[in-house]
Amino acid sequence: MESPAQQSPATDPTQAGKNPTPPPPAVKKPKQDKAPAEDPGIWRISRRNFFSVAGWASFFVFLATSTIATLRMMFPRILYEPPSAFKAGFPSDYIIGEVSEKYKDDYRVWIIREADGFYALSAICTHLGCTPRWLAPELKFKCPCHGSGFRESGINFEGPAPRPLERLKISLADDGQILVDRAIKFRFENGDWTKPDAYLTYT
Ligand code: FES
Repeated sequence: MESPAQQSPATDPTQAGKNPTPPPPAVKKPKQDKAPAEDPGIWRISRRNFFSVAGWASFFVFLATSTIATLRMMFPRILYEPPSAFKAGFPSDYIIGEVSEKYKDDYRVWIIREADGFYALSAICTHLGCTPRWLAPELKFKCPCHGSGFRESGINFEGPAPRPLERLKISLADDGQILVDRAIKFRFENGDWTKPDAYLTYT
């Protein structure tokens, strides 16, 4: 005769209708990676590199822009012009009857020496502002742009120039040199040429 402990569950009346043993744990099969169409690792690295390069590029663009802006602040675009007043040497440097072009290129001024003194003429054509040329054999200033002509005095006599050349303030500086101020102009048509500073009397 079998003891109760030796009875099989099928014959054990207390275990009738119950599942005698728990099901074995499911064995997880390792996932089998599908072969990707592209290697995602490489793609991720490339994208990260892309953002890194873009970041550095943006930084350098910002740096360059800031540097240029700073330099432009330090060196603003200013048109440096010669000062309006300048010294033109001593009266003895000039020959009577001479039209001196010594200061034409730098200041656009002729200085004319007469027996009684000096006057300074602006070398700016009164038509459209070109620089006339002094033609010594013809004793006239001739504008190369539209052909205006001016006498040695500055009076216009040919071409489209509507009025004479302007004279400029001329005086003697403390050191005895001739001082010309281009900011102070004298117009013939206004009767300015007879004003004191339009002519430097010097014999
Ligand atoms: Fe001198 Fe026109 S600018 S003639």
